[in-house]
Amino acid sequence: MNKAELIVDKQFVIGTVDPRLYGSFIEHVGRAVYGGIYEPGHPEANEQGFRQDVMALVQELGVPVIRYPGGNFVSGYEWEDGVGPLSARKRRLDLAWGALETNEVGTNEFAAWARAVGAEVMMAVNLGTRGPADARNLIEYCNHPGGTYWSDLRRSHGQEAPHKFKTWCLGNEMDGPWQIGHKTADEYGRTALETAKLMKWVDPSIELVACGSSMRDMPTFGEWEATVLDHTYDQVDYLSLHTYYGNRKDDTASFVAKTLEMDDYIHSVIAVCDYMKAKKRSKKQMMLSFDEWNVWYHSADADRQLERWMIAPPQIEDIYTMEDAIVVGCMIISLLKRADRIRMACIAQLVNVIAPIMTVNEGIAWRQTIFYPYQHASVYGRGVSLKPIIRSPKYDCKQFTDVPCLESAVVYDEGAEQLTIFAVNRDLAEALEVEADLRQFAGYRIVEHVALAHPDPKARNTASEPRNVTPHAESGAELRDGCLRIRLPKLSWNVIRLKKT
Ligand code: AHR
Repeated sequence: MNKAELIVDKQFVIGTVDPRLYGSFIEHVGRAVYGGIYEPGHPEANEQGFRQDVMALVQELGVPVIRYPGGNFVSGYEWEDGVGPLSARKRRLDLAWGALETNEVGTNEFAAWARAVGAEVMMAVNLGTRGPADARNLIEYCNHPGGTYWSDLRRSHGQEAPHKFKTWCLGNEMDGPWQIGHKTADEYGRTALETAKLMKWVDPSIELVACGSSMRDMPTFGEWEATVLDHTYDQVDYLSLHTYYGNRKDDTASFVAKTLEMDDYIHSVIAVCDYMKAKKRSKKQMMLSFDEWNVWYHSADADRQLERWMIAPPQIEDIYTMEDAIVVGCMIISLLKRADRIRMACIAQLVNVIAPIMTVNEGIAWRQTIFYPYQHASVYGRGVSLKPIIRSPKYDCKQFTDVPCLESAVVYDEGAEQLTIFAVNRDLAEALEVEADLRQFAGYRIVEHVALAHPDPKARNTASEPRNVTPHAESGAELRDGCLRIRLPKLSWNVIRLKKT
């Protein structure tokens, strides 16, 4: 059996994990909203039309923050369409996704739903077809207590208290030619700066996220970040990153190693941020918001068959496999490795659309394979991220060399005296025996070792077989004289929890 070693030291602190690292995303696209979180005729729907079975699953995930309403959708969205009496809401063509938007759910309904599931809202403003003035009106509507046109309009809509949305995205993927109102870095940087000024004048307590590149492979990557930050550095608090991975060539060894690229991507964006800090002789450190990340590729063919202008078409409904869950687990580990700079991250998305939670219209809600690593990290990954020293066997594959079989992140909650090790065995053929040096954690005992593994890397959960891939308790973990011995099944995601007795 392959062997790996891990050394965990309390002093090797990367940073405190901001709970918002476990955020998610709901966009007005496909069946994320209509048929996802909201389905008035459903037997599980509450008085407001929200599905309580879906709410329960969102609560299981412990999602602290949810980005809304887009995504590409926001770049054509006129937020006024989604507030006020339902009977007066306008139907609109959504040009971003070629669908019909009924506007039955808008800002106030979404805020009420988010409150009910215990999440904050991370709002995005339209910088595609719109600009600073509309963003100013929206924040006045949402966050100003009252006594002005927009805040009193909110109150007249039955929402007396301001929403106090704290985090706001200045547009979405503005570097992408597919984006409604796509801009050059200078055009976007100027607009984002002027928008940021107005928004912070309305509510100085907010935090703002500027758009970084929509992926590392964009031809403008790097230059885009530098130019945008040159304009906005003093006004914004975060720069965004987005990435999606897929296994189009059915090369699983390379697919599960994709996070080597993600680590590089994060490192490069931090480098550009710090270059701009130096250039501006600034004391401020720019933080990152990885506000779209996931696996996305299964649904591409099905999406090409869809008709245009449908209400809530079944768009980008990837059904995830075991190997996809491994990639999601590795992506979470990549985020934890840079918890010093990544304060927020959003798995994209939450329900039906490239999502951990799926629903059947008028039917069940169920957990995809990727639900589990996300849930484990969100529930158990709170505390400080420690940097483990890893010695692991490595492999070469078509896209990468020296890929470590063992990928791991460690989170320590000193107050609760709990230590959690997240570990992935990338090896497709063999289990991995790991010896972890935990001598600093005297008096700790193993609470559990939970693994997500399946003999078939392509195994999925579906509406008819929703529990095909589920986590199970692994036996055999032992802790003796500060040395933890565990066996990670082949191609597996693992959570090893320890607590002081
Ligand atoms: O999450 C789906 C889409 O992916 C988003 O709308 C967009 O921002 C990204 O390209």
